[in-house]
Amino acid sequence: MSEPAAYSALDSQRFGIRVFRARADDVAAVSELTQFARSADLDLLIVRCPVEAVAAAQLLERAGGILTDTLVCYRGPTSSFEPSPTASPCVRLCQETDRAVLEAIARASFAGFFGHYHADPRLDPAAATEGYVEWATSALADASSVVLVSETEGRLSGFLTAKKLDAKTWEILLNGVAPEFQRRGIYAALFREIGCRARAQGASDVLVSTQLANLAPQKVWSRAGLALDHALYTFHWWKA
Ligand SMILES: CC(C)(COP(=O)(O)OP(=O)(O)OC[C@H]1O[C@@H](n2cnc3c(N)ncnc32)[C@H](O)[C@@H]1OP(=O)(O)O)[C@@H](O)C(=O)NCCC(=O)NCCS
Repeated sequence: MSEPAAYSALDSQRFGIRVFRARADDVAAVSELTQFARSADLDLLIVRCPVEAVAAAQLLERAGGILTDTLVCYRGPTSSFEPSPTASPCVRLCQETDRAVLEAIARASFAGFFGHYHADPRLDPAAATEGYVEWATSALADASSVVLVSETEGRLSGFLTAKKLDAKTWEILLNGVAPEFQRRGIYAALFREIGCRARAQGASDVLVSTQLANLAPQKVWSRAGLALDHALYTFHWWKA
């Protein structure tokens, strides 16, 4: 029989503890998980729970789980993406030679992020930020990923990573704009470009997610014709 939670090597290595991850859709799944967690060799269990499964969320709270974020997942058709009439900023594919700047932008934009790692006071925030940096750069070595960067005033200003899930769907994974370039429409330009590329390569849909409190990307997605598809709570349950 398979275990109700999976060991996360990446999280465990990053924080120097044993981390497991799971999803719980109902009360029965939460009961099974908490039973498993109490007897397994783990420090932290990260659980995602659909927002409509209120009884399961309440059981996770009673079991000692702390709410660390609410993930909102948007979906939309690529048919609503049109190239920009203006060419500014320039958005292009990321090259291996951009790696150091990509890392610096990811580090600066994700420091103190809204996500569940930064929201947990028991996790090192610097290690949490490095997780996003690694996630951004690992896309460069992944053949099914696309990494775009924007150039503003002769410098790299932002990035976006996406993955082809199947012939019809691209998932946009990680986006960041360097703090000194934010609120200038750069993210909107990166997002438009990835939607146009997905459309040109025959994808019909794009998927993307962020934290409920992260308003800036949700504004961009709504304007690009995406709509909220589903939402998940993230709980952290510590063994001791
Ligand atoms: C989210 C992020 C990529 C947006 O980049 P950006 O280039 O500043 O975004 P844009 O300039 O295209 O702005 C989009 C909209 O969000 C608004 N916005 C930007 N930053 C905002 C903030 N901190 N709070 C609220 N609204 C904000 C902009 O004003 C704009 O809305 P408007 O047209 O009504 O004025 C950037 O803030 C960032 O890197 N954040 C940290 C990482 C992150 O959250 N990544 C996305 C989740 S994976």
